[in-house]
Amino acid sequence: MLVLDLGGQYSQLIARRVREARVYSELVPHRLSAAEVNARNPLALILSGGPASVYAEDAPRVDPEIFELGIPTLGICYGMQLMAQELGGAVDRTGVSEFGKTALEVETGAGALFAGLPEQQTVWMSHRDSVTAPPAGAQVVAGSASTPIAAFEDPERRLYGVQFHPEVRHTPYGQDVLKNFLYVVAGALPAWTAAAVIEEQVERIRAQVGSERIICGLSGGVDSAVAALLVYKAVGDQLTCVFVDHGLLRENEAEQVAETFGGHFQVPLVHVDAQDRFLDRLEGVTEPEEKRTIVGEEFIRVFEEEARKLGDVRLLVQGTLYSDVIESGGSNDGVAAKIKSHHNVGGLPADLRMELVEPLRLLFKDEVRRVGEELGLPDRMVWRQPFPGPGLSIRIIGEVTRERLELLRVADAILQEEVRRAGLYRDLWQSFAVLPAIKSVGVQGDERTYAYPIVIRAVTSEDAMTADWARLPYDLLETISSRIINEIPGVNRVALDISSKPPSTIEWE
Ligand code: XMP
Repeated sequence: MLVLDLGGQYSQLIARRVREARVYSELVPHRLSAAEVNARNPLALILSGGPASVYAEDAPRVDPEIFELGIPTLGICYGMQLMAQELGGAVDRTGVSEFGKTALEVETGAGALFAGLPEQQTVWMSHRDSVTAPPAGAQVVAGSASTPIAAFEDPERRLYGVQFHPEVRHTPYGQDVLKNFLYVVAGALPAWTAAAVIEEQVERIRAQVGSERIICGLSGGVDSAVAALLVYKAVGDQLTCVFVDHGLLRENEAEQVAETFGGHFQVPLVHVDAQDRFLDRLEGVTEPEEKRTIVGEEFIRVFEEEARKLGDVRLLVQGTLYSDVIESGGSNDGVAAKIKSHHNVGGLPADLRMELVEPLRLLFKDEVRRVGEELGLPDRMVWRQPFPGPGLSIRIIGEVTRERLELLRVADAILQEEVRRAGLYRDLWQSFAVLPAIKSVGVQGDERTYAYPIVIRAVTSEDAMTADWARLPYDLLETISSRIINEIPGVNRVALDISSKPPSTIEWE
């Protein structure tokens, strides 16, 4: 099914929720013509919300002939208002806006969207204008105190509208409303599963790769791992994976990559131990952006050297995700484009002149994880928290020396172990240790010490654009603190970072 993006902040979320209902969905520009929509043969359409008023001069619109296609169409918020306006209803600025949780009253026995759901429910609203007359022929099926027309249905023309946001979690029955639309109204089947994705991608990869050789850079993260396994499943030993160990990974991570890919899955793997190269180049460097640049450049250099050794390889696997495609404007015309600086460290240069194979291009992160599980990737990799390309180098303030790296690595390992033991690893977006460039006084035994502190950073987040510091239990903090101080000679103090993003960032550099 297609989500026509009218610029709302939740457009991408709608597409994700539809997929959570196991129906394949894509986010597309609202400017698609009815003929273009029809050519894609969708089972159903959703018109997203949007920030505009339907009366604004530059308000985004859809081709009105889309409503004549006979394809089940659901308008959400602005999408609903647009439908009303185009189809003989009315939209007004009533002077009453609704923002936040709102009580919704469903007409008894009315319609398909609310079938089987409570007549009184809470929904999430966010609108100024309201529909004051439904499209000709449509029946009002739900209302709130200040918005009497909060949902309408026209089963004959297969047109549906809701003023609230079924896609956000604050609408407890929202996913059920979407499922009713997908399964009952549009007759979709919940067939978009990890197994189906694998089958489809394997076929696509085979068609693109043919009998050629192909390489893939592994980072230790879930995206490159799943992309590599999909390609391996499709073309076997035509694939060579290259893993550049820059020495800035967490404890045991490099070994795990080597073991999982080279050992368990038997994927042809070139494991490059390049720690010295990276650490030599980082010597004396303290400026964060310079560290990033050095790690990025060196990574590309090492990767290219290895690629050249493999001979004439023309194809490169890349773990691009659907959210990257959307955000870089590859899929919509940028109405919903977010401002996001793409950290490109660990990525590869555009002038590598290789053809890309991107088996994750249609997948959201949670789907990548599910595919990873289905392919048998160990939990540790599937659920790994995000880790920056420049690795521990941007968590060591000041110079990255071998000694300081080792110290941070041990502290980080203790932190990880305790967070996992407490069962909190998956609830946290990221949790890690930071090594500042200062020392403080302490006393251990009868001796005065002068040593480094370690900072605990743990955050919750949906997408890293914003983040909140995690309220870790005191007992856990105590265990982490005492273990770090007792087990690491160079550390005599542990501090907790209680800053949110913004104004702070997640990483310290
Ligand atoms: P900040 O620190 O900007 O981080 O709040 C947001 C997210 O991006 C990750 N991050 C990076 N990832 N290269 C990367 O590949 C980088 O240079 C980089 N810097 C930050 C960070 O871990 C967090 O998930």
